[in-house]
Amino acid sequence: MTLKGRSLVTIDDLTTGEIGAVFSAADEMAAAIGEQSKLCKGKIMASLFFEPSTRTRLSFEAAMYRLGGNVITAVDIGATSLAKGESLSDMARIVGSYADIIVIRHPWEGAAKVVADYAGVPVINAGDGGHQHPTQTLLDLYTIRKERKTIKGLKIALWGDLKYGRTIHSLVFALAKFGANILFCPTPGLEVPEHILQKLVTEYGGEIEKCKPAKQTGEEKVFPLDAIYTTPTSSHQLAMMPDVNLSLDLGKGVDAIYVTRPQKERFEASESELTNQYQVVDKKLLKGKEFRSTLVMHPLPRVDELAYDLDTDPRSQYFKQAAYGVPVRMAILALLSGAKPVPVPENETTEVKVAFTVYNRDSGLKCSNPKCVSIQKTELKYLRPEFKIVNREPLTLRCVYCEHGFEPKYIASTEWHEGKVINKKYHPSDSHWARTIKPENLIIFASAADAEAQGFKPNHYMGGKH
Ligand code: CP
Repeated sequence: MTLKGRSLVTIDDLTTGEIGAVFSAADEMAAAIGEQSKLCKGKIMASLFFEPSTRTRLSFEAAMYRLGGNVITAVDIGATSLAKGESLSDMARIVGSYADIIVIRHPWEGAAKVVADYAGVPVINAGDGGHQHPTQTLLDLYTIRKERKTIKGLKIALWGDLKYGRTIHSLVFALAKFGANILFCPTPGLEVPEHILQKLVTEYGGEIEKCKPAKQTGEEKVFPLDAIYTTPTSSHQLAMMPDVNLSLDLGKGVDAIYVTRPQKERFEASESELTNQYQVVDKKLLKGKEFRSTLVMHPLPRVDELAYDLDTDPRSQYFKQAAYGVPVRMAILALLSGAKPVPVPENETTEVKVAFTVYNRDSGLKCSNPKCVSIQKTELKYLRPEFKIVNREPLTLRCVYCEHGFEPKYIASTEWHEGKVINKKYHPSDSHWARTIKPENLIIFASAADAEAQGFKPNHYMGGKH
């Protein structure tokens, strides 16, 4: 099999076997980087970067030139017809008719999926707002595998802004795919979103254990540990008794610390002070024996969170990590464009995916994430909001575009009203009705006002609670 014609929007788009094929191709590219110029001869890559970038854009463009292809580029929304109100879908159709492959970075979460849905050529997500950055994840994993030979069973600490860091949001799922354990070490207030933790458990198995703040345990902790993810195959000891076993287990060593900068450009106004609590990673912090051979990683750019005194430290990987961007992205471009068919072993291509019911009924429900592509004015004209029902108790939806999760408050059933207004009743989504309605009959409302605007009346058992 090949990856020809496929898009890479989230890290879920690749199985572990396919990621292994990307790494094998990247090894080949790295070993003879100047000898690949026939692979994409005659092909054109559209490089659309509507947010600042140094590494991703230039390494993708360098990768395409190394492969013998050509690049067309746009780096400013204001210089494109998006600024005149053109929709992403129209832009995608047009660019897809000019180029063989599209690489896009865009501030809206889910934008890359929309472009992939309409372009007709492979689309690579180079970062869509705070959602995902899957090619960064591939070179992060490539770096870890180069240094440690395996990812399975490693303890990887994620540090800093885990709320808005899109590299984190891709990396956690990749680490889980490969069986690594994750130590979440956020700056207070920038914890990893709940919908990401929920997806980890429901789709990758394993366990999340929340840790007590150091203040409550009275211990002095090197790590501001907020939660631990242990894979299904790992010893559950750590997850069962995190505070008891933590210092013991961390004493055996942390395999990598992945530092991220505060993504200030995505902060809410109320979050502007959070950077004051950002703990700098420097030689002093990493002096303990548990960090003796810890890989120090960072997707870059750094600001103040990673000290320059680590640059010459043999544990530091971040410049090497960025340099791997070229061979890894050469591999991705060659595989997705079909220039290089790399066989994926059959037994590694099948990953069990959880099949969720999709909710796309026109009941006025919209994604609750203000940065989601599906609620932007130019996209509303053609995009139909769509959600996966990822849990029934409590009823939890996940937007198919930005993957934010939320718990809508009111439900009804198509079975009850049968066109008779008198029977059109809506109910709290945590009532027993929510459990009895078949998924195909569910009508979901964001608010009581929405339900009433569509002719539904409150169920009298609600006792006015709406
Ligand atoms: N790591 C990364 O995405 O860097 P750029 O923003 O410079 O592309």
